[in-house]
Order: sequence, then structure tokens, then C-alpha cells
Amino acid sequence: METKTKKLKESLLIWYKNNKRSFNWRHTNDPWKILLIEIISQQTQINRANIYYQKFIKKFPTPESMSRSTLKTILKMWSGLGYNNRAIRLYESSKLISEKGFKNIYPNFELLPGVGQYTKNAILSFAYGEKVLALDTNLERVLTRYFAADSTKDYVKKYSDFLLKDVDSRDLNQALMDLGSSICTSSNPKCNICPLEKNCKKYIIRSENSVEKFEGSNRELRGKIIKLLVMQNQITIKNIAKKTSEDEEKIMTAINSLENDGLLKVRKNNTVEINSN
Ligand code: ADE
Repeated sequence: METKTKKLKESLLIWYKNNKRSFNWRHTNDPWKILLIEIISQQTQINRANIYYQKFIKKFPTPESMSRSTLKTILKMWSGLGYNNRAIRLYESSKLISEKGFKNIYPNFELLPGVGQYTKNAILSFAYGEKVLALDTNLERVLTRYFAADSTKDYVKKYSDFLLKDVDSRDLNQALMDLGSSICTSSNPKCNICPLEKNCKKYIIRSENSVEKFEGSNRELRGKIIKLLVMQNQITIKNIAKKTSEDEEKIMTAINSLENDGLLKVRKNNTVEINSN
């Protein structure tokens, strides 16, 4: 397991180095900035969240500056993002942080309104460099596929130490987020350009299944062709296509394999017969 985890980290981090998305909150360890982008990006696509983040951080560079503002001002700025409860909780959080200070709340960020397990871990990783996984839907999907795991949560709990060993958790979390949103997407994942493809268990299983399916259908067609030739001595390829309702390309694959096995002979006029030699 450690080898598989190691391969994931190596390939992923090389890919990340060349493909990472650049956001200015990725270059800070200010927990206020991290909290702000994380709350805004809940239920909001990251590029859109980023536009609002820029507005908010300019007006409220510190939790104190937000705590001195009014809910009305914040809701007005929030307009267009939806889920207004998030704005209300953010405002409440800014007051609590101003009163207690981040360092007295650390590491129990779940005490802040609107902060669940994911956001807590995102703050711990991005602002404090702690070795925790910020398990959002992207991480869950990438890891479940890579390890072909049934239950990500149990699985990740068991292996997160391996995953986080010898890496910067900020890079690992953000690389998995970027891979999940650009390549390992929930529908139509781009496995052919994925840096993890060779070791991704899901990808391997899927490729094996499609080979098996192909082999199954080829075997079935071979049987049908032999049956036809037992009934009549010769048959044209066109007629095989008609009788089996298969396309000629598949029929040719089956005929070639039967010919290679010495069971059939293909005559020049595209007629096929049992090899009697
Ligand atoms: N969504 C929430 N936080 C993110 C981050 N740090 N990078 C990419 N997407 C995110």
C-alpha cells in the first residue's frame, strides 16, 4: 500500500508543479484569508468564488474590519452568491475571531459558525501546514477511484498518514483538488491524460473489463460463424453480416482469428469455408 501511495504522490506532485491554478490565497498562510475563500467557495465554483473573495478581502482585510461592519453591508456584497446563511455565519465568525483571536481558537476551528470538518481541515492545512486531508468531493472522488475503495472516509482515515508522509499537505490537498476538477471529473474523466492513469485501480479495472467484453463478444461471433458454416459449406462475408446482424469490421476480426487458428479458409471471392486441410 505504501508503494501505491508513494506512486500517487510522485506523479501527482510533478503534474501539479506544471499545472497548478494560481490564486492569490494559495500564497498566504493568513487563516482569515483561508477562512474567507473556503466559506465563499462552499457551493460556489472556485473561479466565481475567487471574484467575490477579491472584493471581500479588499474591504475586510482582517476579521476585526468585518466585525465592525453591518450585516446589511455584508449581505449586499454577498448578493449573487446565494445561500445567504453563509454570509451571516461568516459575520458571526469574524466577531468571535476578533474577540478571541485565531491563536486561542486553534486548532478547534469547528467552534466557528459555518465551519465543518472539511473547512476546519482546509484551514489547518492551508494556514498551518498541518498534516490533514481536506476531504472535499474532489479528493473523495480521486482517492476512491485510485484505490477502488468502497468507503472513502474509512479508507482515508486508515491511509491518510501514508498519503501525507514526506509531503507538504497544502500541495497534496490542492493538487488533488485541481486534478479532481480538471481531469478526474465526475463525468467523462480524462483518463488518457491523467498523471495517475497507470496506477489508478479504477482505470485498470475498467480497461480490463472492456478487454473482457470485447473478448466475450468476439468469442460469441466466432461460434455463430462456425454454426453457419456447418449448415452450408460456403458463405460470403456479406451474408454472414446479414445473418448475424453484426458490422463487417467485427466479422472480419472474428474471421481473421478463426483463420489464424486454422479453422477457416477465406477464398478470393470473399467466401468463407471450413478449413478441411
Ligand atoms: N476549493 C476550496 N478550496 C480550494 C483550494 N484551496 N483550491 C482549489 N479549490 C478549492
